[in-house]
Amino acid sequence: MGFKEKVAEIFTSIETELSMDDALQLIEIPPNTDMGDYAVPCFKFAKKYRSSPAAIANEMVKKIGAVDEFEKIESAGPYVNFFVNKSQFAKKILQQAFEEKENYGSTNVGEGKTVIVEFSSPNIAKPFHIGHIRSTLIGNAIYNIYKYMGYNTVAINHLGDYGTQFGMLISAYKKWATPEIIEAIEKDPIPELLKLYVRYNKEIETHPEYQEEARYWFKQLEKGNEEAHELWAWFREVSLKEFNRVYDMFGIKFDSLAGESFYSDKMPAIIDELEDKCLLKDSEGAKIVELSEYGLTDALIQKSDGSTLYVTRDVAAAKYRKDTYDFYKNIYVVGAQQKLHFDQWRKIIDLMGYDWAYDCVHVMFGTVSLEGGAIATRKGRVVFLEDVLNKAIEKTTEIINERNPNLEDREKVARQVGIGAVIFQELFNNRIKDYVFSWDKTLSFEGETGPYVQYTYARTCSLLRKADIEINDDVDYSVFTGNEEFNVVRKLQGFKEAVLNAHDKYEPFMVTRYIVGLAQEFNRFYHECPIITDDERVKKARLLLTLTVNTVLKEGMKLLGMEAPEKM
Ligand code: ARG
Repeated sequence: MGFKEKVAEIFTSIETELSMDDALQLIEIPPNTDMGDYAVPCFKFAKKYRSSPAAIANEMVKKIGAVDEFEKIESAGPYVNFFVNKSQFAKKILQQAFEEKENYGSTNVGEGKTVIVEFSSPNIAKPFHIGHIRSTLIGNAIYNIYKYMGYNTVAINHLGDYGTQFGMLISAYKKWATPEIIEAIEKDPIPELLKLYVRYNKEIETHPEYQEEARYWFKQLEKGNEEAHELWAWFREVSLKEFNRVYDMFGIKFDSLAGESFYSDKMPAIIDELEDKCLLKDSEGAKIVELSEYGLTDALIQKSDGSTLYVTRDVAAAKYRKDTYDFYKNIYVVGAQQKLHFDQWRKIIDLMGYDWAYDCVHVMFGTVSLEGGAIATRKGRVVFLEDVLNKAIEKTTEIINERNPNLEDREKVARQVGIGAVIFQELFNNRIKDYVFSWDKTLSFEGETGPYVQYTYARTCSLLRKADIEINDDVDYSVFTGNEEFNVVRKLQGFKEAVLNAHDKYEPFMVTRYIVGLAQEFNRFYHECPIITDDERVKKARLLLTLTVNTVLKEGMKLLGMEAPEKM
């Protein structure tokens, strides 16, 4: 039994009509530790005892008496405050952590349930730019967190590899691809394809017939015309090669790359089903689902030329996923700009009669911009994500050369720290918040940054390397009654809760904040208390604490997608 449960048990034994769940609900964590580790407010009992909450709290303390697990139980105003017995508490936490190792913090809440996390999902033949960092990293962290919570997880990259824009690209290619341009595409595909696309969009203004030609080529693609298909497949292949370089740098792997094109042959069945369920209305030759009575704009499902749309493919994708994976949750990590799209889409699935529509979750986020200017993509002025990562590595190399020129594996560490810094920065705030990407903030070794956490982790590694004794959980737990030590223990206790909260709210930043808080707490302890001391008893206990912090920091970083270098 945990200490919180013990508090609840004490209350249920005095207030017998209180259930264990009610009692647990009642318990608060005081804002500062002078007020104890747990507090129970007594307002709830005022009516029953016809007395003031403060007087009741006083009475409660007398009734409770002494309890082994707590060094002090006292009232303060309307609260009963519980101060845990520090060495008992430390023993419980550290023994459990020692036993569970990297699983300390994991749960089995997801056992037997499949969760799909769809993330990243860039459009092929378009730049993989800094804006994509958000879905890519938030999604990957959510995927890791769900896996850690015991779910069977499926990572899907729903590539934007279909749609009328490919009609434009094919048409542009057929018009303008000279041997030089083809060679340029082979060398540096995305910028060159983007150039074609941008030119096409521009020339449409003076050549309205290009619109029709683009439509024609998309239609050909849908019909399986060989030439159209071959070009499209080539665009897709060269794009994926580019994207994969970034995924490799982040260490991200997908279980499925079923993107929009994957659903092209599943479209007729969806149109039929919508038709059968009387959900489609004709609108000037096109087909729509009317949604105005639900406070949404109508959704265009099929154009008058018979081609389908983004939302149609998403409806097909959701149904396919339900049939294939029988998901418990189907999570879409996509920017807030697409809220209307997902609201319409969910309503359509609901109207089709599928109650799992509400197991589909749109996890949205705000925008990222770079210091000194937002990200323009329409005009072709973009910042590639790969360039940002390379710059982070470069800058980190400079810092390492300055601070620690003799470091072994310098290149590898620079990569781990540079990329880790970017990941940490991305996952530092509530995801809905817009943020400005700042180099100084990202790469600083001080303050709440990735390098700071990694540095702290490397410090624990160095201490553990220096230890000349076996580290185990057979230690004198009375060592942990000092404030600095106990604060670290208290923080360690919160790991599981932090990950669970991040899981409940789809908010990786809760893990980020947790690990940086733990690093800070550990550093306070490190600066106040010698760890490798002559007193074997103290050394052994402090090393166990160091080992636990080492494991939790590493695991926490892993959940975010960061690597943890052992030397920095
Ligand atoms: N490819 C889209 C874009 O770049 C994002 C796809 C989001 N996922 C989805 N199932 N609609 O905007």
